[in-house]
Amino acid sequence: MAKAPATVYVCQNCGKQVSKWLGKCPDCGEWQSFVEERVRPSAGAAKGVAARGGFRLREVKPVRFGEIESQDDSRIPSGIDEFDRVLGGGIVPGSLILIGGDPGIGKSTLLLQVADRLSRQSGRVLYVSGEESERQIKMRGERLGVEAANLYLLPETNLENILNEVERDEPGAIIVDSIQTVFSSQIESAPGSVSQVREVASQFLMLAKNRTIPVFLIGHVTKEGSIAGPKALEHIVDTVLYFEGERHHNHRIVRATKNRFGAANELGVFEMTGEGLVAVANPSEMFLHGRPENVAGSVVSACMEGTRPMLVEVQALASDSSLNNPARTAQGFDRNRLALLLAVLAKRVGVEGLLKSDVFLNVVGGFEVDEPAADLGVVAAIVSSYRNRVVDPKTAVFGEVGLTGEVRGAMQAQARAREAQALGFEKIIMPASNTSGLERLLGVRTVGVRSVEEALDELF
Ligand code: TYD
Ligand code: MG
Repeated sequence: MAKAPATVYVCQNCGKQVSKWLGKCPDCGEWQSFVEERVRPSAGAAKGVAARGGFRLREVKPVRFGEIESQDDSRIPSGIDEFDRVLGGGIVPGSLILIGGDPGIGKSTLLLQVADRLSRQSGRVLYVSGEESERQIKMRGERLGVEAANLYLLPETNLENILNEVERDEPGAIIVDSIQTVFSSQIESAPGSVSQVREVASQFLMLAKNRTIPVFLIGHVTKEGSIAGPKALEHIVDTVLYFEGERHHNHRIVRATKNRFGAANELGVFEMTGEGLVAVANPSEMFLHGRPENVAGSVVSACMEGTRPMLVEVQALASDSSLNNPARTAQGFDRNRLALLLAVLAKRVGVEGLLKSDVFLNVVGGFEVDEPAADLGVVAAIVSSYRNRVVDPKTAVFGEVGLTGEVRGAMQAQARAREAQALGFEKIIMPASNTSGLERLLGVRTVGVRSVEEALDELF
């Protein structure tokens, strides 16, 4: 006799399971996140799992480390350089990749482009869509110039049916658009619930590993900015890519926040055009495009994004405040870090009036910088605005600012300097400790500074 399905309450934020409803999750602290779900932990399900993933229970033995084949040379290029870069140099066969982002940002577009390129070289590609009909996908494909003869569309949301299809078709790569629409009939909760999404993801993980093919899962981001039942998925998959961008900008950034096969924080930059997403070859140039020159409060900072140097414009506006608590806002930069830098400027550099000023900070282009080496650019922009003094537009800066007002070294100084040189900058103000190992660059003067004061003297 079949066991009655057990009722559990699952936190839709972190996946915590409890037997009684709670108002607040004891694990992640989220309120009102528990939803009743029914699971049937039947023996049949467990057996089914093995069969469905195209996976046979086989005997496993330990393997000598040295005898394991290295995988790196087997990476498949996706045909889109920026995408390969984010993945750490191409697609690793057998990997499960989650691509998250807001609705309408371009996930389906990018993956259809990837599917097209992949199908030209790694055989059949199966595009499973639970969101759009074949006709809709076809229309999009025509816009993108997709002509792949080896690309197969499957409008299906039932996991078991999808796995059967895979068994029959043996595709060389699978794209699932989106994971929230797929459900397993072994689980009674609604599609998109944490139990479903987790089950579906782990089935695809098994499938990817057993068939050694890449599987891409598209996932929508919920309002808090995390993928459906957020952390519930991130630990299952090998790689997590996030699509970032703003509606009123055409550029899109794809960022790896987790990658078992490469560096996290790697990023790729695309532009959304009438013919789909086009890789941006020189992101610095794009981010600096249209920059106001000879205006106080604008400074170019040489940042690193993953392994790639990127020049970004930092803008600040500092003005006398009539408020008791002056306004402090920061776009694309950590607000607490801004407060710290303002304190350093007031206490160590003697720009005390800043504490009574409203300060607005913006990293241009909807870009987020979260590395300490951006400090000096922020400090320079604030002081430039506050003193109403222009920073030479051919000067770039970078360096971490410490609590005593010292300028500390940054990693990858060489790469930053080269990027600045490539974009026609003539002077770079940087940590003194970084200048020694630096190779001489044509047409660029590198000025090492030890403190914020020295940097400001050099700038103004
Ligand atoms: P889509 O890939 O459907 O987003 P997601 O799958 O993340 O929800 O992208 C939809 C947006 O992209 C839509 O606003 C139209 C725009 N778009 C273009 O600008 N050019 C194109 O070639 C395509 C296919 C879409
Ligand atoms: Mg879509």
